[in-house]
Amino acid sequence: MKLQFIRNHQVVECDNVPPTRMLLELLREDLRVTSCKEGCAEGDCGACTVVLAEPDSHGALIYKAVNACIRLASSVQGMALWTAQDIASDALHPVQQSMLSQHASQCGFCTPGFVMSLFALYQTQVQQGKTITRNDAQHALSGNLCRCTGYQSIMQAALSLKADPQFRIDEGALLKQLLPLKKAMSLADFLKERHAKPQAQLVAGTTDVGLWINKQHKNFESVHDLTTVAELKRITTDDDGLHIGAAATLEDAFTAMQVQRPQLKNFAHRFAGLPVRNSGTLGGNVANGSPIGDSMPLLISLGATVSLARFDGVAIQTRDLPLEKLYLGYRKNIFLPDEVLTHIHVPMPGEGEFSRVYKVSKRFEDDISAVCLAIHMTLVGGRVQAISMGAGGVAAVPARAVQTEAVLVGKTWSEEAAHIGALSLQSEFAPISDMRASDAYRQAVLGQLMKRFWLETQGHTQVSLADITVIEELL
Ligand code: FAD
Ligand code: FES
Ligand code: FES
Repeated sequence: MKLQFIRNHQVVECDNVPPTRMLLELLREDLRVTSCKEGCAEGDCGACTVVLAEPDSHGALIYKAVNACIRLASSVQGMALWTAQDIASDALHPVQQSMLSQHASQCGFCTPGFVMSLFALYQTQVQQGKTITRNDAQHALSGNLCRCTGYQSIMQAALSLKADPQFRIDEGALLKQLLPLKKAMSLADFLKERHAKPQAQLVAGTTDVGLWINKQHKNFESVHDLTTVAELKRITTDDDGLHIGAAATLEDAFTAMQVQRPQLKNFAHRFAGLPVRNSGTLGGNVANGSPIGDSMPLLISLGATVSLARFDGVAIQTRDLPLEKLYLGYRKNIFLPDEVLTHIHVPMPGEGEFSRVYKVSKRFEDDISAVCLAIHMTLVGGRVQAISMGAGGVAAVPARAVQTEAVLVGKTWSEEAAHIGALSLQSEFAPISDMRASDAYRQAVLGQLMKRFWLETQGHTQVSLADITVIEELL
């Protein structure tokens, strides 16, 4: 396919770009842009970070740091792209200057990636006059690893960032350049193309598919890229709730969900690092259906439904169903060959709702769950009027804890009820042992998380191990 994007205010045109060509390969091997490094080729280290920009639905330019190693080259059609060798002019960019002044680089291998994550932060916050907090910097750098510096000097470089008018990007001119390059597709046309060629690999942010290509050396004759359908990238809200387009990025989806449920902030930041959340989509996580996928337990507990659509040769056929009904077994789902997940619908918070989601993993950031439990409870007069629970890492599919829900609904909410719920959760699932955790650990954690949920309903916020009396039977 022919690819056109903007780099250094020039339209870059690449012909015959193979469908599984990664952006990093195109940059390094085809365009000789060697500041963009390859460390892991799986979205973990950040050495390949580049910044993309495209107009949002209101026409404002949105900058995002992404991993070029797991990003399809074709997906940057009609976007603006910067690498570390594009941001200086006859002087170093303020980000580069700050990294230099703070001695924030030793071997330098990770440095271009850090510079680009900070460039995205500079464009989205420093340029807007915002002072960078430690939290902002940690959030922006959550996808970058460094083996040499110990991060302090890099953090200092981030905190000392100052806007320099000389480096303000002429966004009006850039938007004008981008407009003619954008190739948006309607959902109806996408579904017709899908119907005509169901064997094409369906992709979205390729943060799963990218690893299949890089690590399992899978090759696809052709791909159908859902991120080309503008309508599927949109998130709307009405009285029924949040309607998240399947191709909305994880970062945008979680940000939207935090508006109604601020308690999701910590969880959202623990889903991968920012660059992966800037490419990966909520629809991809749900459709991929990994038993350790993190969004599904949460969405199941919140009573989320999904909309699927396909073109049957005559008309567009749609169906809506509870999210947990998508999965039939390990990596088996109900999708018809040409069917696409179009939306995830999340109900608004109800009166008396108390919901929490717990991700238990070895590393705090950028790690896959050993266990993920989400509990959504409505109390009326101290009684459990409704409860829905989603669990990840403890079954072949992201699952709903229907047995435990049945045990708890109608009960007076008390430590005793939580204890009964903990025992029920442990008997409801038979987790496996793998490299992330043993079956016994997963079982014990399920029970303890129920105990933690009880404490949090009693107003404990910083629940620490000291708060939790280990319940012998739960071990
Ligand atoms: P893609 O890779 O584009 O597609 C994945 C699969 O879903 C493909 O089979 C594709 O055909 C299918 N698909 C995509 N969209 C649709 C649709 N709308 N309809 C039907 N089928 C569709 N996951 C977690 O849960 N928690 C984590 O903490 C986490 N950390 C990660 C860290 C790293 C470094 C990386 C690389 C990945 C991580 N992931 C994690 C996995 C991945 O980021 C998510 O699963 C992501 O949501 C996948 O979305 P995507 O758009 O990239 O999907
Ligand atoms: Fe490591 Fe891309 S090379 S994240
Ligand atoms: Fe060597 Fe960061 S400076 S990896």
